[in-house]
Amino acid sequence: MSSLIITGGVPLSGEVKVQGSKNAALPLLAASLLIKGTTILEHCPDISDVACMLDILKAVGCTVLREEETIIIDAQILKQTSVSRKEAEKMRSSISLLGALLGRASQARIPLPGGCSIGKRPVDIHLAALRSLGAEIEEKEELYARLKKCESKEIRFPYPSVGAVQNVILASVVSEAVVVMKNCAREPEVEELCTFLNQAGANIQGGGTDTIIVYGVKELREIRYTIRSDRIAAGTFLAMAAATKGSVTIQGINPFELSAVTEVFAKIGCHVKLYTDAICLEAYKGIRGIPFLKTMPYPGFPTDMQSQVISTLICAKGNSVIRETVFENRFGAAIELQKIKADIRINKRDQLVVIHGRDKRCLCPAVLQAPDLRGGAALVIAALIVEGTSTIKHMEYVERGYENISGVIHTLGGICCRENEI
Ligand code: EPZ
Repeated sequence: MSSLIITGGVPLSGEVKVQGSKNAALPLLAASLLIKGTTILEHCPDISDVACMLDILKAVGCTVLREEETIIIDAQILKQTSVSRKEAEKMRSSISLLGALLGRASQARIPLPGGCSIGKRPVDIHLAALRSLGAEIEEKEELYARLKKCESKEIRFPYPSVGAVQNVILASVVSEAVVVMKNCAREPEVEELCTFLNQAGANIQGGGTDTIIVYGVKELREIRYTIRSDRIAAGTFLAMAAATKGSVTIQGINPFELSAVTEVFAKIGCHVKLYTDAICLEAYKGIRGIPFLKTMPYPGFPTDMQSQVISTLICAKGNSVIRETVFENRFGAAIELQKIKADIRINKRDQLVVIHGRDKRCLCPAVLQAPDLRGGAALVIAALIVEGTSTIKHMEYVERGYENISGVIHTLGGICCRENEI
């Protein structure tokens, strides 16, 4: 278990470059199985979820090499189409291997991905959509799936599930089928998967819109691709500056992908300037509460920034109300923040939190337990606000998605150190 010891109370200021996107890298790594040759992914984040996915690719027969931020995968020959529980249970996104293995080898055996602390995380939408393409899927402890021939179909998703849309794309992109998908997730990570595959010779129209059409092709060609920056990591670093009355410039990010987030920071009183590939935020005068904010599928306010904004608002002037509409159990950080005497009320039934902003001198440092990846990042933000030394335990959750959060804190003038506990 690893911990991060933070001495807070210092405004964070400086310039940071953002890591490659975790939620783009994972489906692209799965998609590399569809290319019978070499895939080179640049700007790939060095995080434990990616390491896990690379272990799975090696286990099915790929050769994998990492050279700094570049990953080279050779998927010429696969030796098996089943993923072990040991590997799969380390992260949820192993479900995206279902579509990729069906697309490459017409069969797959994947452990049923467990839920996690933010919710049950069912895969019913994935399975229903894949079955409508003609897949036979047996659900036991594991998923046993076969897709002899992908059928042309029109699919309307009951909910715009990011992973389910990605799985259908992966299962149908190399086929003779035409698959029309409606009510698709519009997240940038869905659009980026379509862009990546099209650059490898696919024919997918409408990526990033609610209607995607996959015109199956015979095969994909080798590709070198640079992964875009992580919009949630960027939003997290913006929150660090907003929360501590500092200022930050985020380099190498497309501000358009974060517009719902930058709008919120502007609403709470930050000065936000957008450039073609950078975002500047300044909050020297402090921030105010937000009367109501709810998380929504893209382009709405992202659920992956909900915990970080709650932390940002604990010392805002006035009250804030935040509603979570995507996951059913994503207030782990809000519960922990009560330990530093933040005035936060949680209404589980309505999936709401009410925050009464307090002067930071009313808060006190504490030992906090990261509940999940983004909840852990939220506790880091809160510890940066509070004067004194706080400890955040289970930073291994945070390291699943953030390449070097302590390094970013140091770059921005913050004080922290990592501690590995046996
Ligand atoms: C992706 O998860 C992201 N993960 C999540 O980021 C993100 O929060 C989520 O999309 C929403 O934007 C990756 O990309 C690896 P969903 P995914 O399917 O695809 C329900 C992070 O912190 N649902 O859009 O699993 C589901 O329970 C992670 O980086 C079903 O009911 O999300 C949830 O309530 C956390 N049945 C909602 O839909 C299904 O078959 C959204 O899930 C699938 C989903």
